[in-house]
Amino acid sequence: MRHLIDICDLSLEEIDSLISCALDIIAHPDDYAEVCKRKKLATLFFEPSTRTRLSFEAAMMELGGNVLGFSAAASSSASKGESVMDTITVVSSYADIIAMRHPKEGAPKHASMKCKVPIINAGDGGHNHPTQTLADLLTIKREKGSFNNLVVGLCGDLKFGRTVHSLITAMSRYKNITFVLISPDELKCPQYIVDIAKKAGHTVIETTDLENTIGTLDILYMTRVQQERFFNEEDYIRLKDSFILDTEKLKFAKEDLTVMHPLPRVNEISVKVDDDPRAAYFKQVENGKYMRMALIMMLLGLKK
Ligand code: CP
Repeated sequence: MRHLIDICDLSLEEIDSLISCALDIIAHPDDYAEVCKRKKLATLFFEPSTRTRLSFEAAMMELGGNVLGFSAAASSSASKGESVMDTITVVSSYADIIAMRHPKEGAPKHASMKCKVPIINAGDGGHNHPTQTLADLLTIKREKGSFNNLVVGLCGDLKFGRTVHSLITAMSRYKNITFVLISPDELKCPQYIVDIAKKAGHTVIETTDLENTIGTLDILYMTRVQQERFFNEEDYIRLKDSFILDTEKLKFAKEDLTVMHPLPRVNEISVKVDDDPRAAYFKQVENGKYMRMALIMMLLGLKK
């Protein structure tokens, strides 16, 4: 039995296989319509979500399976004091696979230790978000054709942005990446993530300057400042609009830049950028559903 807690739980070969499966689903959706017949996915979201929860549920429905779960801790017995472990033990009697989001770092890992069905980490605090990374990797594959020899800018809240941590970890396993980490000093990427990239031999540039670096980038991965992880509202207000990508800044970018964002967006990408052919963030959303379909099949040991 397999869980997905960290993106490194998947080998590069398995990621390639998930991408191939997702591309086949896109080409031949009808072939997958009954793969998960009579299987149930539980989505246990102790923290808010739009894309991750609904794309997991849409993914299971498109595979012919069923879904159950809750979308907030307040609507579960966690609000009465039930532990994560008890919740997971109970739900594993009802479902064949569980996707779980929790505000505490490490909660899905903890839950997986005694769980008798596969657990997927759907985001744990400011730590990791491996299935967002699967969506990001399919997007990079479709937009760039390769994961090697890229200059990847990551901009915004690199401290609390769990999608950034998982994506740098994943991309560090490929060849010749330059990571340009653009953030305010207070929201710099954790050193252990920077070290993963450096130890793998990649170049890491840390800067506070988007304007003067945007022209060097093949990919620009914007992120929201994570208001819910701040202890101090004043700090959030001071930092929230540190970087705003607009059509003026895009004039200095490469013609084939790919602009990504895990979403939700607050203010960090102007809506006018949505019409630019370089904007790929709504494609990321769609790619996420296909990669989650492929992942559910892999973890349940099912083929079309
Ligand atoms: N990208 C992402 O995790 O979005 P949600 O918080 O809406 O699930």
